Amino acid sequence: MGEVRILAIESSCDETAAAVVEDGRKVLSNIIYSQIDLHTIYGGVVPEIASRKHIEKINPVIEAALKEAGCKLSDLSAVAVTYGPGLVGPLLVGVAEAKAIAFATGLPLIGVHHIQGHICANYIEHPDLKPPYMCLVVSGGHTHLVRVADFGKYEVIGRTRDDAAGEAFDKVARAIGLGYPGGPKIDAAAKRGNADAIPFPKAKVDDSEYDFSFSGLKSAVLNFLNHAEMKGDTVNPDDLAASFQKAVVDVLTEHAVMAIRQFNVKDMALAGGVASNSALRASIADACDKEGVRFYCPSPVYCTDNAAMIGVAAYHEYTKGNFADYSLNAIPNLSL
Ligand code: KG4
Ligand code: ZN
Repeated sequence: MGEVRILAIESSCDETAAAVVEDGRKVLSNIIYSQIDLHTIYGGVVPEIASRKHIEKINPVIEAALKEAGCKLSDLSAVAVTYGPGLVGPLLVGVAEAKAIAFATGLPLIGVHHIQGHICANYIEHPDLKPPYMCLVVSGGHTHLVRVADFGKYEVIGRTRDDAAGEAFDKVARAIGLGYPGGPKIDAAAKRGNADAIPFPKAKVDDSEYDFSFSGLKSAVLNFLNHAEMKGDTVNPDDLAASFQKAVVDVLTEHAVMAIRQFNVKDMALAGGVASNSALRASIADACDKEGVRFYCPSPVYCTDNAAMIGVAAYHEYTKGNFADYSLNAIPNLSL
């Protein structure tokens, strides 16, 4: 039996999740209740609906996580929870729950940064991965190029100035009628399409080498669709998906390669929901190969929101004695 067992809770967006993680790497259970079906009809996450569903699901999800891990609350070393960034209502449900468990059991409480959780997802299946390394975090809410200097020590090198990569996927998918969430649907459509069919602009930010901007690309896609409609041209949605995806993947890969060279790292990792994207994985893996750098990426289940990654991040806070008190609060715009 391991030394440190952490019950982790994640409710920052539309997944109600709980996990038990041992010694920062071993996932004893990982329960995810996805609310996606609930939000699909609205074309995106409705915060009020998400909050209500989290309240309904959080106890059964935690019970299932404890059961699957084969442990009781008294077998745990700590309880951890995502306290930001994310949607305030959903975050509050997890934070209140974790505080209640900590208060009732006397277990130490650990507040976890959601993005740090995404990065730490890489440790679950890659025991050899250790800082320093570069990590590209791409999700529905975030696009960050991060230098992981040490466990728990992060330096943001580049970030999006406007839309997140996943947000761009979701908006473009909606524009071509693929529905929500758009990322996996664009990924699938792109496999059937020609990525060189439509030359979309590669978004550059003038005053920063590493920052990203995806709103211009999204507008270019919408303009292209409008023009085609006005002219009565038919647009092949697979070609559009493939061309858009290529524009995103190329920019992400270029910045990652620049960072690998400038910071002379030997390891590069991906994280976040968009890290499931097959073209992005292939492109970064290929670039790493050419640069002579090892490439790491979590399995899809650890890319999208989950609590196992929160349990891993919490372990590194635990070993440093970074505990929260009962004043822990949700911070929707918590920075890295
Ligand atoms: O990490 P995540 O579950 O939630 C946030 O923290 O934001 O990421 C969700 C995002 C959504 O925008 C979804 O469309 C995107 O990840 N996504 C993908 C793929 N799978 C999920 N984007 C592109 N390709 C995919 N295969
Ligand atoms: Zn996330």
